[in-house]
Parts: sequence; C-alpha cells; structure tokens
Amino acid sequence: MSSQLSVQALQWTGSSLNVLDQRALPAHIRYDEYRDAAGVADAIVSMRVRGAPAIGIAAAYGVVLSAKYHYPDPTWQDKVARDIDLLAASRPTAVNLFWALAQMRDVLAAAPADPLAALAAKAEAIHADDIAANYAMGERGADLIGGACSVLTHCNAGALATGGYGTALGVIRSLHRRGQINKVYADETRPWLQGARLTVWELAQDGIPATLIADSAAAWLMKSGKIDWIVVGADRITANGDVANKIGTYSLAVLAKRHGVKLMVAAPSSTLDLSLATGDAIEIEERNPNELLADCYLGGDSLVGAWNPVFDVTPAELITAIVTERGVVVDPGLHGVRSLAP
Ligand code: MRU
Repeated sequence: MSSQLSVQALQWTGSSLNVLDQRALPAHIRYDEYRDAAGVADAIVSMRVRGAPAIGIAAAYGVVLSAKYHYPDPTWQDKVARDIDLLAASRPTAVNLFWALAQMRDVLAAAPADPLAALAAKAEAIHADDIAANYAMGERGADLIGGACSVLTHCNAGALATGGYGTALGVIRSLHRRGQINKVYADETRPWLQGARLTVWELAQDGIPATLIADSAAAWLMKSGKIDWIVVGADRITANGDVANKIGTYSLAVLAKRHGVKLMVAAPSSTLDLSLATGDAIEIEERNPNELLADCYLGGDSLVGAWNPVFDVTPAELITAIVTERGVVVDPGLHGVRSLAP
C-alpha cells in the first residue's frame, strides 16, 4: 500500500526516524534523522512534523527510540516513562498524540518478553493502520459526496499530516481518482501557511490541480457559488461531535451555513475523544505571538502584541458529516459520535 504514497512525512528505518522538515517546504525537501525521544519531541514542538495523526505516529516511534536508548539499564522503564511524559508535553490539542502514547504505555505494561520488538511492532502498526484508515475514509467520503463537485480545504490534512494519503486530502484524492473533482481550492491558512506551503504542493505532487485563496476570500468564494463542499481534518472530536481543527475552521463553518455549502470532517477514529462531552473542554494551543508579529514589533518594549490561538472548535450543529474509517455520522449535531466507538 505504501508504495502508492507520493509524499511521506515520516520514514522509520528500524533504528531511527527520518522526519521531513515541513518548515522548509516547498522550497527544500530535507529529512532530519532522529535517534532519541528528546529529538522527536523537539521535532513536534518546532513543527518539523505536524498534523494530528502524524504527531501521534512520530511520538510512538519516539517511545521506541527511547526504549532502544535505555534498555537494558536497570531503570530503563522509568527513563522511558519520563520520555513519554516529554513527548506528551509537546503539543496539547491533537488527541492522537495522547492516544498513541497510551497504546505504547499499554505495551510496556504488558511486560512482553522482548520489549524492544513489541514496542517497534506497535509503532509500525499504528503507522500502517493510519494509512489504511485514510484509504477507507477517502472512499467513504467520496461515496458520501457521490458525484462531481468543487471543494475547499483548510490547513493541510494530507499525507504530510498523517502516515500517508491524508484525511481531507484522502477524500479529495479518492474523488480525483473517480474523475469527480471539478476544482480544489485551498486556504492559505495563516499564520503558518499550511495551505499555501504544504497543501497545494502536496496536491501538485499527485498531479491534482489546486487553486490557492487568501483565507479572507473564503466568504466571497462561497457567495460566488464556486464550491459545494468544504472538506477538513480534525485534531480532536468530542462525544457530541464538536471538532477542534486549525484556526479558521469555525469561521468557515459559519460561512458554510450562511451559503448552503456542506462541511465534511474526515478523521481517523484515533481523533475521537469520547472522554470529553463537548468541545468546551478541549485545550486550545496558543503559539508564540512572534509567529504573527512583523519584525519591527518584536522588541521587548513594543506596544504591539499578538494573540495566536492555532486551533478553534466548530460546534457539531454546523457540520454536515463526520467521516471515519469505522463509519460516517451525518448530522453529528443531532447524533453525536458515540456510535463510532469500537
Ligand atoms: O498546527 P498543525 O499544522 O499541526 O494543525 C494541523 C491541523 O489542524 C489539521 O487540520 C489536523 O491535524 C488534521 S490532519 C489530518
């Protein structure tokens, strides 16, 4: 399956993790090699690797690297536990990170005879399962749309953000294979420009034409009748169907309602957080104001500051459908997503 993948954010060698530095795209395609958990945690904090499923997968490999580094020191389990805490502190919003680390903790708790092999097998399974989930979601999402359409996507929910193929871009890839894509629009996605730097580049790698718009053009795009669906990914989906995703998703959802455009959220079941009743309980990451401020305001005595929340929460009632590999919930505002629990 992975031989079909064009873009890979993460490459596991068996003894190290190669991470495509997404800060440098599209100008430079450069992989950095990591051999310990602290390095992987730093790659997540610094957004060399980003996107909810991808950071979960990277963290799982980070635990493998930690065990390889410390085993069989008599205190290796304590040291790995500390590295898991370090990885968990890298970013707060995407639940896939905590889900993947919980899977790795479960392997350790089962005290397998060969812990290094068992941890590596689990991380590789998390990676492979994510790719398989994306293919399944792509087909389910394309089935739901059911015909020719034009779509808008936000941020990057593609191969770069996952094990491969992508969630929202997986749906778009599947539609494209069926010959059902009229046009794909991508928001720039300020301030980090995931759309402008990553999504349009990733689609171009697969020969899928994409049209970039400024975030502030989305309302006019909808008013002009140019799109039928907005398709996005998610960082956390709570039991009632609320969705945390890249900042700006909520405003797109409000605009979509106003203009009769449908909104699809595509995410693997590892993005479900059924322990939270609603999106109000989701911690929203706020990043350094310097990501927003012009250089002239960066001095300590500047009167100009910035507020930089990098996710928002879209209420379930604004979402047309949530698509996972396990199934689809239409009108999550009426039904929630508990039916998608295993
Ligand atoms: O800050 P980022 O780039 O990690 O944010 C990524 C997103 O918001 C994606 O839409 C989300 O993680 C889904 S990726 C399949």
